Amino acid sequence: MHTLGIETSCDETAAAVVADGRRVLSNTVYSQVEQHRPYGGVVPEIAARSHLEALPQVVGRAVQESGLDWDAIDAVAVTYGPGLAGALLVGLSAAKGLALRLGKPLIGVNHVEAHIYSVLLDPSMPPLEIAVPLVALVVSGGHTALVRVEGLGRYRLLGQTVDDAAGEAFDKGANLLGLGYPGGPAIDRAARRGNPAGVRFPRGRQRADKLRYAGLSADLCFSFSGLKTALLYHLRDCPLPAGDAAVLADVAASYQEAIVDALVQGCRRALCPGDRLAVCGGVSLNSRLREKLTDMADEQGIPLYLAPRAYCADNAAMIAGLAGAGGGLRGAAAMHADADPSLPPVGF
Ligand code: KG4
Ligand code: ZN
Repeated sequence: MHTLGIETSCDETAAAVVADGRRVLSNTVYSQVEQHRPYGGVVPEIAARSHLEALPQVVGRAVQESGLDWDAIDAVAVTYGPGLAGALLVGLSAAKGLALRLGKPLIGVNHVEAHIYSVLLDPSMPPLEIAVPLVALVVSGGHTALVRVEGLGRYRLLGQTVDDAAGEAFDKGANLLGLGYPGGPAIDRAARRGNPAGVRFPRGRQRADKLRYAGLSADLCFSFSGLKTALLYHLRDCPLPAGDAAVLADVAASYQEAIVDALVQGCRRALCPGDRLAVCGGVSLNSRLREKLTDMADEQGIPLYLAPRAYCADNAAMIAGLAGAGGGLRGAAAMHADADPSLPPVGF
């Protein structure tokens, strides 16, 4: 079964071909980052227009690089939410048209569910039936969630951020530090030579009496907006000396440490005996997060499945993979699906 995946939920135009849900035959990603950089963040209208321009070429390349002919594509899978409305619409409309033209089924995929599936694109991963019970930490620019995975399509949301996502915390922090956009990789780099204990920033916790998500445990929810404000106040009181890379490195490392500690703590609290831990999404590229989660997993003897680097940030291999494994909306439900910007992450 060869699935062509299409992903346009945010600022990456992506297409990929995956065999049998596990073997990635091609993975093409066109990043719009240069178009959004002057604005310091993603501009939804620019994202949608840019998808429209780039998608035909990106899809063509993905099929060409897979080495398959068009008639060997068995299904077309596409993200239908959550994400930016205009951006989603471009991919969804293109995928509907393509499926009709090829006479092949359309499969509608939830972007967050696909991020979780991305850990299975590591060829050394056992099949999902064997990898469960899993706790998945999804950390991206739009989402920060802890999800219990019991099988394909069987998820329970354990906790999530009540304000900013971890990726947003990186992006906003980098902006305050003058490190530019996208902020995650910039902070990761700047922090490398810094002291993570240089500045004491708050570790985002949610007070149980303030939690606005009924049914979720406050212990498993995150809050990052206070951290961003703490950085703002710190920089007001102790402005960065111009040209002093050492002070910048210490502040960046300390800020990163606060985000990473909150995420690692959340995982620690969510894990029950016998669980394995899966980590995915753009922020799972962060070197300090990978290091601290690896230490925690080693210390506690927990199998840790980190999404392969190529599939952490937005990509279409995870979309085609999940669809090829049997996930997603099918048949008339897929053809009639609308772009759903606020599709709940999973099982909510
Ligand atoms: O998963 P993703 O590509 O898109 C969404 O679904 O949102 O994640 C993008 C986020 C951005 O906020 C970006 O700053 C962050 O991932 N990111 C990182 C790193 N690389 C990307 N954050 C921390 N450290 C990194 N190395
Ligand atoms: Zn994403």
